[in-house]
Amino acid sequence: QGKEILSGKKILITAGPTYEKIDPVRFIGNYSSGKMGFALAEVCAERGADVTLIAGPVSLQALHPNIKRIDVESAEEMYNVVVDKFPNMSAAIMCAAVADYAPEIRDEAKIKRTGDDLLLRLKPNKDIAAALGRMKKTGQVLVGFALETNDEEENAWIKLNRKNLDFIVLNSLQDKGAGFKCDTNKITIIEKSGNKLVFETKAKKEVAADIVDVLNMYF
Ligand code: C5P
Repeated sequence: QGKEILSGKKILITAGPTYEKIDPVRFIGNYSSGKMGFALAEVCAERGADVTLIAGPVSLQALHPNIKRIDVESAEEMYNVVVDKFPNMSAAIMCAAVADYAPEIRDEAKIKRTGDDLLLRLKPNKDIAAALGRMKKTGQVLVGFALETNDEEENAWIKLNRKNLDFIVLNSLQDKGAGFKCDTNKITIIEKSGNKLVFETKAKKEVAADIVDVLNMYF
C-alpha cells in the first residue's frame, strides 16, 4: 500500500463524548475517551488525507500536521460544525459518542441542593450522522459506529439504513478488550451491500488502519 494513498481526500472525523450542560458547573456526559476517533484521524493523515477532526471534550492531542482540529462541547455545537463542513468533504467518519438527550433548560446559576427530588427534563438531540446521510451527494462516503449491548448485528444494520451510511463499524460491549477507554477494540464492519467483515481484537491504531482500508475501497 502506498503511503500517500489518500492524498487529495478530505476526511471529516468526529471523536469523543459530548457534554450537555445542566448548569454552569455540571453536565451530562459519557465515558468515550476519543481514542478511536483520534487513531482514525492519525491513520488518515499519515496516508495523506486532509483531516478535519471535530473533537468533543477529551484529553488527547492530535499531532499530525494534516489534522485540523476543531473542539466542541455539546451535541448541538458538534452538529453545527459538522453540517457546515460536510459539503466540502470526500468522506465523514462519525466516531463520536454523541449524547442523545440534553437538558431542556440550562440553568444560568448553579442549582442549589434542597431536600426535594430534582426533575431534569431532557430533549432529544439531532442525529448528526442521519443529517449527513440526508445531505450526502454521489461520491461522498459516510461511515458510522454502533456500540451495542444486545442484538448487535441487527441493530447495526437498522442504523446503517436509517442513517444512510455506506458502512457501519460495530463494537460490542460484550467483547473483552472493546469499547470505551480501552486501548484495544474488536470490530465487525457491516457494509450497505450486506457484506460483513469480522476482525480480531487489536490496538486501536491497527483497528483504525483496518477501517481506513475499507474506506479506501469506496473512493
Ligand atoms: O443511533 P446511535 O447513537 O447508536 O448511532 C451511533 C452512530 O451515530 C455513531 O456513528 C454516532 O457518531 C452517530 N450519532 C450522531 N449524532 C447523534 C447520535 C449518534 O452522529 N446525535
